[in-house]
Amino acid sequence: MKLILKDIHKEYERGGKNFTVLEKINLEISQGDFINIIGRSGSGKSTLLNIAAGMLRPTSGLVELNGENLFLKNDSALSLIRNKKIGFIPQGMSALPNLNVIENIILPSYIYPSREKNFAEEVAARAKDLLMRLKISELEGAYPSELSGGELRRVIIARALINRPEIIIADEPTSDLDVKTSAGIMEFFTTLNAEGMTILLVSHDLDSLKYGRRVLTMQEGNLIEGNKL
Ligand SMILES: Nc1ncnc2c1ncn2[C@@H]1O[C@H](COP(=O)(O)OP(=O)(O)O)[C@@H](O)[C@H]1O
Ligand SMILES: [Mg+2]
Repeated sequence: MKLILKDIHKEYERGGKNFTVLEKINLEISQGDFINIIGRSGSGKSTLLNIAAGMLRPTSGLVELNGENLFLKNDSALSLIRNKKIGFIPQGMSALPNLNVIENIILPSYIYPSREKNFAEEVAARAKDLLMRLKISELEGAYPSELSGGELRRVIIARALINRPEIIIADEPTSDLDVKTSAGIMEFFTTLNAEGMTILLVSHDLDSLKYGRRVLTMQEGNLIEGNKL
């Protein structure tokens, strides 16, 4: 796995005026990395993660996953790559209210279902394994409205993992959670990383800083090595 962001520049338009959010970002993410990005609200962290996950086109610059330029792909090829290779957890992501926990988790695997004959059983087994690892097995048949914030977040994480992605990209996966629940989730990411999963995440609170192998700060449209807050 290799994800490369090369000279990423992003401008938005607001009230008829252009403004720059990302100046010129360069970042190389290799197999097994665990990168934690911090930065003030509005500094462009979500913009950067959305671009890295192939969800948002930069104004200029390129994103390469395993040598393939994501934004040169057509929409269907890009969706396929995102679905199979990138476990993206957008900021404020929620579950579908009319599906129960296990249905929410397996949903991404049915977007491009495999034709293998044991596909349904295999996906269900994978979902149950994720539920167990995230310690929410007893919630399999519950609906999102019946879950606490931390439980819901675990469901979203399981959903991002169901297709066995090559990288997890998570935007503030512990926001609005209490300290203990946040720590539990960050420890889960640490375990995943120890097993070889590559992780790129944004965290909002300084408690999360002790997690991850590399910390970067988003400041004035650039990424700076270390904690500069
Ligand atoms: N679609 C958009 N159009 C215009 N401005 C946007 C858009 N999305 C975000 N912004 C602005 O870009 C800046 C960076 O936003 P964001 O990437 O969400 O920062 P962060 O995640 O660090 O809080 C903010 O000033 C925000 O208001
Ligand atoms: Mg954000």
